[in-house]
Amino acid sequence: MKLCIIGSGYVGLVSGACFAEVGHHVICVDNDARKVEMLRAGGIPIYEPGLEEIVKRNVASGRLEFTTSTEEGVDGSEIVFIAVPTPPQADGSVDLSYIEKVAREIAGVLKEYRVIVDKSTVPVKTGEKVADTIRRYNKAGADFDVVSNPEFLREGCAVPDLMNPDRVVIGGNSERAIALMRRVYEPFMAPVIVTDINSAELIKHAANSFLALKISYINAVAQVCEASGADVEKVADGIGSDKRIGRNFLNAGIGYGGSCFPKDIAAFIAISDQLGVPFNLLKEVQRINRTQRDRFLAKIREALWVLKDKKIAVWGITFKPDTDDVRTSVAVDVINDLLKEGAHVTAYDPKGMEKAVEFKLIDGAKLASSPLEAAQGAEALIVATEWKEFDSVDLAELKAAMHTPLIFDGRNLLDPERVRGFGFTYLSVGRS
Ligand code: UDX
Repeated sequence: MKLCIIGSGYVGLVSGACFAEVGHHVICVDNDARKVEMLRAGGIPIYEPGLEEIVKRNVASGRLEFTTSTEEGVDGSEIVFIAVPTPPQADGSVDLSYIEKVAREIAGVLKEYRVIVDKSTVPVKTGEKVADTIRRYNKAGADFDVVSNPEFLREGCAVPDLMNPDRVVIGGNSERAIALMRRVYEPFMAPVIVTDINSAELIKHAANSFLALKISYINAVAQVCEASGADVEKVADGIGSDKRIGRNFLNAGIGYGGSCFPKDIAAFIAISDQLGVPFNLLKEVQRINRTQRDRFLAKIREALWVLKDKKIAVWGITFKPDTDDVRTSVAVDVINDLLKEGAHVTAYDPKGMEKAVEFKLIDGAKLASSPLEAAQGAEALIVATEWKEFDSVDLAELKAAMHTPLIFDGRNLLDPERVRGFGFTYLSVGRS
């Protein structure tokens, strides 16, 4: 099929590349001419395992093209996906101006029937507004349908998530559009859930909020574990082995971050408020998430007494492993909290250092070129992101490198017994 994807950011680029990989012809449209040039030349603006090979292979085969022209994309495709940013506003609600602008742009060049698909994460009822806007701005009076098709990609495993989805959600009110959408996803051989547009939009916010709720739930349990001497990992194994609950997303730590959970939960709260049904449970999810970081810092303060002028190593800057994404990262917040209190921080991250420097996120911290270099002379080490690389550091060398063998593991990455066996004082989250 011929597909157009407007917006070559995270979602748009991964979706475009994977659609091309299964045999569709894809035109990706982006208004950033430099990005388009880079992608045409085989460059990838984000780090995502497996993406570069897929983009290169499909550009070479001619199935994946990049352009700055919306008209070219809309003219040459049966289906037009909108995958532009939906950033948060100060009150938690979503800034839908990029979506509105793209809807007007599509309307300006729409000459014959197209399915317009909203792939960006948007609040319920956005599809109705997109349809109204296209109708109002399309002088040709062309026929079209709007569909909601949310994505459930996790950063760091977006390619396998897209190639092997648990489910595909298609929200639409027209059989013609739904039939075309089914054909797009046929090669993926995944269960397809067809709903109305509003339900599909809600599924995305409700799914992310539920996952965040699971994390805050186990973090609240971790607090009780700390107060009672129980072990949160054993509790998580015990409750997670109930198939109705599941073990995934029951890992306690210093809280969730990233470009999705914090934003989507705030947006779900905001739209629920607007609809007159305040979602107070999710406000508690947010509160627990903030508490985890505060409690962790309190633990560090208690052990080190004064943070001013203390030499502290931090392993991890990204919001989770296997990504270079440092936006809304709890690790970044922890580093800045330590800097604010006058500590001397040396950080290391396998993939996130370049972007942390580019966006000036941890100004004042030094960067090291390896985990051991970061730990050199440190009076404490903080594990802020659970990169596998950190678990394979030689603990004897680490102890020799540090001034004081003290580890605060904010992600419960290391094995407490093993670490203590090397003579470290080791504190983690909710583990006795
Ligand atoms: C999430 C959703 O998983 C995905 O379906 C959606 O499309 C986008 O948002 P992502 O933001 O890439 O994906 O990261 P995810 O792996 O879900 O982790 C989010 C945050 O939760 C990370 O900061 C992670 O460290 C934290 N987390 C996750 C925990 O603290 N504990 C857990 O058990 C799981």
